[in-house]
Amino acid sequence: MKLWAGRFEEKTDKSADMFNSSLSFDKRLYKYDITGSIAHVTMLAKQNIIPQANADEAIKGLKELLEDIETGKVVFTDGYEDIHMAVEEILTGRIGDSAKKIHTSRSRNDQVALDMKMYTRDALIGISAQLENLIVSLAEMAKQHLTTILPGYTHMQRAQPITLAHHISAYIEMFVRDNSRIIDCVNRMNTMPLGAGALACSTFNIDRDYVSELLDFKAPTLNSLDTVSDRDYLIEAMSAFSMIMMHLSRFCEELIIWSTEEFSFVSMSDAFSTGSSMMPQKKNPDMAELIRGKTGRVYGSLVTLLCVMKSLPLAYNKDMQEDKESFFDAYDTTTACLDIFGKMVVTMKVNKERMLESAKNSFVNATDMAEYLVKKDVPFRDAHFIIGALVKDCINEGIYLADMPLERLKEYSEVFEEDIYNVLDVKTSVNVKTAKGSPNPKIVEKYLNGILNEYSEI
Ligand code: ARG
Repeated sequence: MKLWAGRFEEKTDKSADMFNSSLSFDKRLYKYDITGSIAHVTMLAKQNIIPQANADEAIKGLKELLEDIETGKVVFTDGYEDIHMAVEEILTGRIGDSAKKIHTSRSRNDQVALDMKMYTRDALIGISAQLENLIVSLAEMAKQHLTTILPGYTHMQRAQPITLAHHISAYIEMFVRDNSRIIDCVNRMNTMPLGAGALACSTFNIDRDYVSELLDFKAPTLNSLDTVSDRDYLIEAMSAFSMIMMHLSRFCEELIIWSTEEFSFVSMSDAFSTGSSMMPQKKNPDMAELIRGKTGRVYGSLVTLLCVMKSLPLAYNKDMQEDKESFFDAYDTTTACLDIFGKMVVTMKVNKERMLESAKNSFVNATDMAEYLVKKDVPFRDAHFIIGALVKDCINEGIYLADMPLERLKEYSEVFEEDIYNVLDVKTSVNVKTAKGSPNPKIVEKYLNGILNEYSEI
């Protein structure tokens, strides 16, 4: 019989039962559900709402049930409506009356709010640890490439010389921001829902501060209606996941391009590549492509929950049960992608020579050349035009700027001297830059040391 069947005359239709049940996906909340119940029952006894003996028996039963689930002795079967009903019904079958008292002054509405918050809090702490590991691995990798020159691109056209360390550091910055978003989200959501009841608390003299402390929350939530209908933190978390995925996806896209034969800047380890069933020569960057693809899936989950929530009147509505599959999928996908990405990126081979060649055989030094003229008092706009004309002539002749002899350069501007050839060296370009945030190896090294200091001990 259903735990809520008192006012019903007919049994639920089998298909309605199946349609309604969330057990297949919310069973992953079991640990939080049981931990929450233990805290709740502890408080009920402390407040003399239920006898201590019942509480003790219920707590013992809950702990045993937790262990039995963890060791596989209890497996959830289809018959239950959700994880909350399953736990209560199994416990009632085992210990009887003491189990029937645990739902005093509680609703599944505040219970599910608690379970989801506890699950999400742990999930976010785990994602933050993964981000911090990734930040450290990237910083260590970048330190190996402080002077590895490659062209930086805008519009996918070679633009100015940078270093690989500088390029990797750009992603480190993104992951640092992602991590701070995750931490912000944990801090904002860290309030304890239990005690809100179905929507308006109960007539019992409950102690919500005590439960909050037991479950390691900052404080109890402040409005019972909001408590049972708030899913903002899931949307916020999924928005942070989406941003992480966007950053992973952009990096993956670059690695996919860089590993083409045309670029050959990097080569993925065999351990993180796949072959073709038909074309024997192929080695494909499937991991990077999958991460790029799964990004769409995480965005989809975010949009799903935004749409589920958008017109819901206060307070709880069953629509909210739809939060779980989208959140779990977004979380599973993000954590898996962070894991694979980290392994893939640290095992890939970097082709430094090829990167340097690409920078040398290009016009990435044109801006430095214009700036050389400006330093000799040519107005920038004129300098820009002069170098533009030089580039045009070089292209026509099939040469690069450094191939022009000084006598010819003087035809474009008489301020050119022998020292221009040092300026045209792509290594000089990064070395002479002094601004904070520039690709100068010394500046990037200092930045990376700062990152390693901050994140390696965490
Ligand atoms: N399975 C439900 C959910 O995930 C639990 C809350 C059910 N509450 C209710 N009043 N039917 O949202």
